[in-house]
Amino acid sequence: MESQTLKFSTRSHSLKQPAIRSASVRCNAIGGINLGQGVCDIPAQNTIKQAATDAIFANKNLYAAHEGLLPLRQALSKKIREFNLVECDPESEILVSHGSTGAFVSAAKTLFNPGDEVILFEPFYGYHKHILDLLNINVVPVKTDLEKFTIDFAQLKNSLTEKTRGIVICSPCNPSGKVFTRDELTQIGELANKHNLFIITDEIYEYITYPGYEHISIASINDYWKRTVSISGFSKTYNVTGWRLGYAYAPKEIIKKMALVHDLIYVCPPTPLQHAMVAALNLDASFYDDMRVSFLKKRDFMVSSLRELGFTLSEPQGSYYLMADIRQLGFENDEAAALALLENAKVATVPGGSFYYNHKDGEHLLRVCFALDERKLQAAVDSLRKFLG
Ligand SMILES: Cc1ncc(COP(=O)(O)O)c(C=O)c1O
Repeated sequence: MESQTLKFSTRSHSLKQPAIRSASVRCNAIGGINLGQGVCDIPAQNTIKQAATDAIFANKNLYAAHEGLLPLRQALSKKIREFNLVECDPESEILVSHGSTGAFVSAAKTLFNPGDEVILFEPFYGYHKHILDLLNINVVPVKTDLEKFTIDFAQLKNSLTEKTRGIVICSPCNPSGKVFTRDELTQIGELANKHNLFIITDEIYEYITYPGYEHISIASINDYWKRTVSISGFSKTYNVTGWRLGYAYAPKEIIKKMALVHDLIYVCPPTPLQHAMVAALNLDASFYDDMRVSFLKKRDFMVSSLRELGFTLSEPQGSYYLMADIRQLGFENDEAAALALLENAKVATVPGGSFYYNHKDGEHLLRVCFALDERKLQAAVDSLRKFLG
């Protein structure tokens, strides 16, 4: 038989491994310190692990309701009322999802058609862009100023066309560390009202804000709730990124459709782990306070250390990332800098261009994640100092 060429989908041709994953693969291969991938290396709380084990041994191992376990949705509704200041009905306005990524995929598939335009503030979280690409939804980037952490509202207004259907917010932001203010959220909400747009807000880092900055959910302001899908998850707050559990809340017409989409793609998130998350939501307030204090210490250490080493950067307002400007260090671009740091200092970072629509716009930047254990951060800084001098 003649040899045949396998014919893949057009979209699959443009897929490549995200920069974050490839940085990690290379880092692991040389046993380096990974400031590339957004994971915190502190183990999950024993209460949560015990609750998951208990659920498995109690045989809670079958499919769960496709919107998620009701006791978990009830616990979430309480958390969302108390923390996000949004009232939502646990029966119809919450979807437990396959990570917050599953919620984003389901929202994008529910709200947008191929060819629609969706605004992303750049630097953006790569998965937001790549998932929209995968669904043939056109991304329209709007700039965030990394020095002042402001967004360009003139550019935002000029970017709206007949085809614009939505705006995506990520606050606190990965990768910039920006926390959106009430005023900015209100301006976005008013534009969305005026142009009948959906808002998707990814708030997975909602508990990680630094002194002077407050996490505000756009769904809690004015009447924006009616057009907003709020997304969050357990991965980052409870250090269970591998458990694949997140959630979305929105008006019931939206959640009903998102749940149907989510069911087709994922069926349901892991049942025993959903039980464990009820225990996570019952942890007391000191858990969140301790987490903030610990990340604040790491943020301050990394900001001052990187500045001493010659990077230029603004202090992140929230999340556990920062974007460091490398122009003072003499590298050709972001890729060359990331490679040099990995090969010579065994420290992985992510090239800044991968968070921009046009790679060139971010080629003077590296993204650094500072969620690791303090000793590893210190070792990374020592090693960078040896190399950069
Ligand atoms: C902004 C943002 N959203 C979503 C995710 C992924 O979350 P999950 O593990 O819940 O899918 C990440 C992970 O890095 C992230 O930074």
